[in-house]
Amino acid sequence: MIGTEILKFDLIESTNDYLKEHLEMLSDGTVCYSLEQTKGRGRRDNIWSSPKGNLYFSFLKKQKIDRNNVFKETIKVSVAIIELLKEFNLKPQIKYPNDILVNQKKIAGVLIETSGTEVIDSIIIGVGLNVNQDNFGELQAKATSMKLVNGQNYLIEEILEQFIKIYNDLSDSNSTYKMYKDHSMIIGRDIVYCEENYRITKIFLNGDILIKNKNKEIIIRENFLDFQSIYND
Ligand code: BTN
Repeated sequence: MIGTEILKFDLIESTNDYLKEHLEMLSDGTVCYSLEQTKGRGRRDNIWSSPKGNLYFSFLKKQKIDRNNVFKETIKVSVAIIELLKEFNLKPQIKYPNDILVNQKKIAGVLIETSGTEVIDSIIIGVGLNVNQDNFGELQAKATSMKLVNGQNYLIEEILEQFIKIYNDLSDSNSTYKMYKDHSMIIGRDIVYCEENYRITKIFLNGDILIKNKNKEIIIRENFLDFQSIYND
């Protein structure tokens, strides 16, 4: 269960960093959000630009979890965002592993960070959701927001509250995994791997991907995927 404790900031460096730095004193399920971030971080060392108007939050799960099960967290948070956006009549898709797109443009991103050596003992899940931003500058062709699609402003707090409810109601069951797969753009895409053509046919529960051609089937891990060639971006 997340959200029994919710910390609000007007301005912070990064909500993920805040949870990481205060890990010891915070309880399982703490949510931290900020109206703005000065050092918002994305995956692969990208900067997550975080002006006022969007939702920036992270939550802490203080639980022992096997490394092979971390992808289940990706599945759960992605599906919760999908469900949330559907409640606002949007038609979101998942760009594997955890970018959320609407009309082929990115509307939300997820940054998952773990701590612990052999066994993971805590996990921080950060979400950036574009809510009221209507100008993305040079990224205008690649990014969108709830406002740009629906033409109205939203209250950040209400969106966060709704997310927490959806997330807490989601089970870890097969139906969540199915929903993840059903909304994944990657399945059916063609990919060149080691100079051969393949089609991506499956995402496993641990995040591995199955690719096939008429001669071969190969399982590959996320780190070894060439995302640029899959998504042409
Ligand atoms: C990505 O798509 O690259 C992931 C973006 C994650 C951004 C969120 S905003 C809240 C939390 N704090 C951060 O510094 N990053 C995440």
